[in-house]
Amino acid sequence: METLRVAPSLLSADFADIAGALKLMERAGADWAHLDVMDGRFVPNLTFGPKMAADARARTRLPLDVHLMTVEPELLIEAFAKAGADWISFHLEATVHAHRLAERIRALGPRPGVSIVPSTPLSALEELLPFVDLVLIMTVNPGFGGQSLIPACLDKARRLATLRKERGLPFLISLDGGVNRATLDACCATGADVLVMGSAFFGAADPAAEVAAAKAILRPW
Ligand code: DX5
Ligand code: ZN
Repeated sequence: METLRVAPSLLSADFADIAGALKLMERAGADWAHLDVMDGRFVPNLTFGPKMAADARARTRLPLDVHLMTVEPELLIEAFAKAGADWISFHLEATVHAHRLAERIRALGPRPGVSIVPSTPLSALEELLPFVDLVLIMTVNPGFGGQSLIPACLDKARRLATLRKERGLPFLISLDGGVNRATLDACCATGADVLVMGSAFFGAADPAAEVAAAKAILRPW
């Protein structure tokens, strides 16, 4: 039985101390480091580019889980692949040729993921599911950390887990936004494999306890 993977998001870290944030993730038993790339266009906020991923790569052995919240993600994937990203997820809403993009990411080395915002229906992913290794379900409207989880998005994640079983597909399901102690059980009950944690991790007095709480949940599937 696999435990949940926890991916703390650098978005909630002190940007002046990224090395310290990565060390904290490792010490706390996190599985992946989640990198939220925002372009000020797809979402109303700006974060960082491929150099941050390359510098993070030099400081940690944790897999780098890059979440592109950008328009024209096709222009960025090569740079993030070169920077050492292990996973690159783009938004379905940001590209017309999602299949081509997923295949290009895979050819460059990283594992491809796709993400959808709360208002995008699951049905929009139907044709793409066999071609991605990760589906990142946004459980808040992307752009900022510290927002409240939108409960309807958990139902979407649950339906995705059912669909995955029916179609016998191997992709991982990740939930991103508003994951904390209060929502942990409901998040896990969807059948998700990865939980992104921003404010709940970096705002905690004891981040290791937040990771441990997620990993302590039994997943009988
Ligand atoms: C939101 C980002 C999330 C965010 C999660 O646009 O994609 O990864 O950092 O932060 P919390 O856990 O605080 O909701
Ligand atoms: Zn994210």
